[in-house]
Formats: sequence, structure tokens, C-alpha cells
Amino acid sequence: MNVDETTRTFTDFFRERGHILIPGNSLISPPGDSVLFTTSGMHPLTPYLEGRPHPEGRRLVDVQRCLRTTDLEEVGDDTHLTVFEMLGSWSLGDYPGVQSLKWGYELLRDGFGISPDRLHVTVFGGDDQVGPDETSLHTWESLGVPVELTQDENWWSNGPTGPCGPDSEIFVWTGETPPRGTPTTDPGWTEVWNHVMMRYRRHDDGTLEPLTPERVDTGMGLERMLTILQGKSSVFDCDIFVPWTETIPSLWQLDDRSLRIVSDHLRSTVVVIGDGIRPSNTQRGYVLRRLIRRVLTTLWRTDPTRTLSELPTHPIEHTIDHFKQDIEVRNVRETLRNEEDRFRTLMTKGGPIVSRHRSRGNGHLTDEDYHYLHDTHGLPRDLVDLLGEPSLTQPVG
Ligand code: SER
Repeated sequence: MNVDETTRTFTDFFRERGHILIPGNSLISPPGDSVLFTTSGMHPLTPYLEGRPHPEGRRLVDVQRCLRTTDLEEVGDDTHLTVFEMLGSWSLGDYPGVQSLKWGYELLRDGFGISPDRLHVTVFGGDDQVGPDETSLHTWESLGVPVELTQDENWWSNGPTGPCGPDSEIFVWTGETPPRGTPTTDPGWTEVWNHVMMRYRRHDDGTLEPLTPERVDTGMGLERMLTILQGKSSVFDCDIFVPWTETIPSLWQLDDRSLRIVSDHLRSTVVVIGDGIRPSNTQRGYVLRRLIRRVLTTLWRTDPTRTLSELPTHPIEHTIDHFKQDIEVRNVRETLRNEEDRFRTLMTKGGPIVSRHRSRGNGHLTDEDYHYLHDTHGLPRDLVDLLGEPSLTQPVG
């Protein structure tokens, strides 16, 4: 199944069961939101999960692009991405979690053709505030799927307050051996789909108020599902990444992990720029700036003459088309070029200043040095640390 077939299989399944396909939002989270970017499919739907009537009704399905900076350090492994897509389904107080779990099982088995032998789930086992999620436990038992009970890992909330509740995560076995162990004991279990039974609203003082009737929020990681359906060992081997993973090695020789980081960050960068963000020193613009700088430092570590101007149009265009964004390739390229110029200038000017401070402190910088370098020369801490890497401060030919 390619990416479009996978998405369609999911959305058609829920449309056939009375859900309305709503358009996904951009990565920009709604005003007043506590996070900078949309981090999950339910995020833009928060007011409706809290009770506001949705114009399209109480059964919804969509595909939502998301960005998580919490996973940034993990990018480069087989499963984590900065920008990813979530296939989501919702019951806004219409049907309960039991129905969602049963449909989930049916879609995985019949729609995606995953053998039930490869499934394992986790269910909330209870804590000092809320008892075990017996309903989900019995539902999975009746379907014959093995269950592991956990605590924190099976409680979903989008922030300190608001709608929340126990969740049930579905894992597919992707290990080399026949299935063994449980999701928390064997990394061969890959999480693909989370079903949240939003039964509570958490208040500022930490107390939980029942949310009735319960809402259901599910989210499936599209790229993880593709990895499984396409029989690949990593998200970077799937069709959506091919334009990047084939182009980049023909431009720059990189080790495997660097190739993954550069592919992820460049693709994410295109999507963030496509959603109207430009590099800056604060908030969303700073996340974008960090992504671009991380690409550049990875490239320059082995050859400081490398430049993003070498990047052909094709992968950028492919990403813009995939996310159906309204931006010209030349605007993306211009943003990348300007940011690269700016970063190169900072590196060239900042290098000697930082080394002077370092040699005065016998190779070390104090907090006072960092403050001075930031306040007087505009060099943020992460950049100062980078400037300590000799290969990055070689003159550019
Ligand atoms: N909100 C849940 C998650 O992000 C399910 O969509 O995992």
C-alpha cells in the first residue's frame, strides 16, 4: 500500500461508518494554545472535545500534520520524525470507546491485512485517582488480543488541564523473531494507534470532573503504519521519504544517521515554511532556525563548502504537493538561502570571538562568558557550543 492508499483505507473505513472527513489544519496551533505547534490530531479539535458542537457532527475523521520537538533528539532512529502525519477518528460523545476499539481491530485485520497474531495492546491499569480501565480490558480480551496493563503510559492529556482519560495503545510486532514479550519489555513491538477514552476534564487544582458522555479520540501514526505495510525497517525507507533519501546521497556523502537527520529536517523545514513560518530568534521561527542550522552543521562537519543551494527542486516540490501547501518552491529556496547566509556570517564572525574567550578560560566558558557572548555579540549558547567544533569554523573556500 502506498501512502495515498493507506490514508484512503483509513478515511474510507470511518466514512463508511458515518464519520465526516474534515480537512486537516496547518501546523500552527490555535491562538492562546500553550504549545507552539499542533502536536496531535486532536489538538485543533480541543474545544469540540470539551463540548462545543462541531459543525460537521459528532463523528469525524481526518489526516493532520503534526510537529513534535520533544522527539528531536530521537530523530535518526527507525521511527521518530519531526513532522509527521496522524490519521485520526473522533466520537464527540456519540459512541463509546468500546466501539472504537472493535472498529480499530477490524480495520487493522481486514482493511490493512495485519494478522491478529502480530497485535498486542496496552490498557490503563489504574492509579491513585482513577481505577483500571475495565471496559477496554474486557473488550480486548473478548477479541482475543493480549493486553498489558500500565499506568502513566496509558493516560492521555494534552496539557496540565482540559480533556483527558485512559488510553489503549495498539502495537504491531515488527521484530525479527516470532512475537514475544510485551510492548514494555520488547522493542519488537511498534506502537501504531492510540485510542483515548476522554472520560474526564482536569481542573487547575488537579481534580478530575467526569466528562459525559465519554469522547473518543484516536490517532494513528501514518509513517509508522506505512513502514509496516511496506515491509520496511524504518520510516525513512517508505515511499514518502524516497525523494529525499535518493536525492541527498547523490549530493552529499553522509553516514546513515546523518542522512536520516538531514532528510527529516529538510522535509520538516519545507512543511514549516509552507505553513508560513520564517526563521527567527523566538518561538516557532526559532524551531525552524534550529532545524535548518542542524542540517547545516551536519553537512559542514565533513565539508564546510556544502550549501543548500545545491538542493534540486524535486524533493521540495514533492513535499509541498504531498501536504497540499500553497507556496512556491522558489520561496522555500530563498528562505533556506537567506538563513544559510546568515548562519555562515555568524560562524565566520563568531569563531574568533569564541576562541579568544575559550583560550582565556583554558578551554572553558563560564556562564558569565555565555551571557557576554549573547548580549554583546548576539551569539546564543547553542551556537557558541557549536563554534567549539573546529571542523565547523574552517574558512569556507
Ligand atoms: N491524542 C492521542 C495521541 O496523540 C490520540 O490521538 O496519541
